Amino acid sequence: MPPIPALQTNNGTYVGRYWTEHSVLRRYVPSDKELKILSFGCSTGEELLTLQLLFPNAHLYGCDNDWSNLARARAVLKDNAVVFHSNDEEILRHGPFDIIICNSVLLRPTRLVEKIKTAIDPTEWSSVVATLDQALKPGGILQIINSNIPFRLHRAASGYEALRSPLILGPNYTDQFDLNGKHLCSAVPGTGFSAILNRHLGEAEWRLMRPTDLEDVHFRKSGGDTRVVPVENEAIPNMNAAGTVASGSTTYRPEISEDRRPSTHTEIDVHWTAFKNGDVRLHRSARRVWFDGSIASSTKIEIDMTGPVAGVFIESAIGRRSTRISMDLLLGARASQTHLL
Ligand SMILES: C[S@@+](CC[C@H](N)C(=O)[O-])C[C@H]1O[C@@H](n2cnc3c(N)ncnc32)[C@H](O)[C@@H]1O
Repeated sequence: MPPIPALQTNNGTYVGRYWTEHSVLRRYVPSDKELKILSFGCSTGEELLTLQLLFPNAHLYGCDNDWSNLARARAVLKDNAVVFHSNDEEILRHGPFDIIICNSVLLRPTRLVEKIKTAIDPTEWSSVVATLDQALKPGGILQIINSNIPFRLHRAASGYEALRSPLILGPNYTDQFDLNGKHLCSAVPGTGFSAILNRHLGEAEWRLMRPTDLEDVHFRKSGGDTRVVPVENEAIPNMNAAGTVASGSTTYRPEISEDRRPSTHTEIDVHWTAFKNGDVRLHRSARRVWFDGSIASSTKIEIDMTGPVAGVFIESAIGRRSTRISMDLLLGARASQTHLL
């Protein structure tokens, strides 16, 4: 069987990439026991390592179409994942999967060809997504981040419901196109390090887009008997019993240039409270400002941070490292992660 054409050729990846999205995905499923998870476009294996942290009891599979990436992934994962060359036959042979992860693969850098901007070939995109759909069990979850074409436009999408959580702000930062290759919006270069920094400029056809095209990452296939647990926040019950010692606010608004070109971005306001034991609770409000200036969506959420991460949040809010906590993190002396319920 011919290999699937090369999509994104950049193999950039790291452990912990898309941590929020992966941890929300973990919380959608009651148990990770016996789950079969495919990382489509696993690159050198770091995404599988992240999945291993969150889904320690799952059976992990990864595929890529680059031999050197596969060799490195196999060396890193050893017996902890099945790593194979990407083609339709192998994907279907190893499936069906409960979860398929497809992060930063369904894209190509945007190019100017005869005055028209193009990126991924829509026919190739449709064919790859159809294979992933075929390899996913009924009731399974597809996680797609950074696709050049919104999943909503695929013919299989009517068989899926989008799963939404206020924790997810929209990590997608690629240019968007429709199935006819119409350029819908451009990602502002330099964004993409964090969901709140992402900004897109409207191209002539931006009205064909929906805000959820930039925000949705989890899609549940209909059928099956899996129970999906909603993920509304990250708050730890009774966290404030320890008593508060300090509080403050921080805010994020991108600078919009004077050219008045329609653009969409997210605005964030955070009020934080620090407790005696060093933990921190955030009240976060987020609003997506749409291309026409309207507010397309707004969410309010509580997020609790425990351990060193909490101290680092305060320090990042004031812009300086200063405490022993952040030095420990800097030197790798302590493992840390935000609390997962
Ligand atoms: C930017 S990396 C993403 C790695 C990882 N998913 C992540 O988000 O950290 C893109 C990867 O997709 C792989 N890729 C490109 N075309 C592919 C295909 N047809 N099948 C599987 N992987 C492919 C590339 O070789 C590269 O390793």
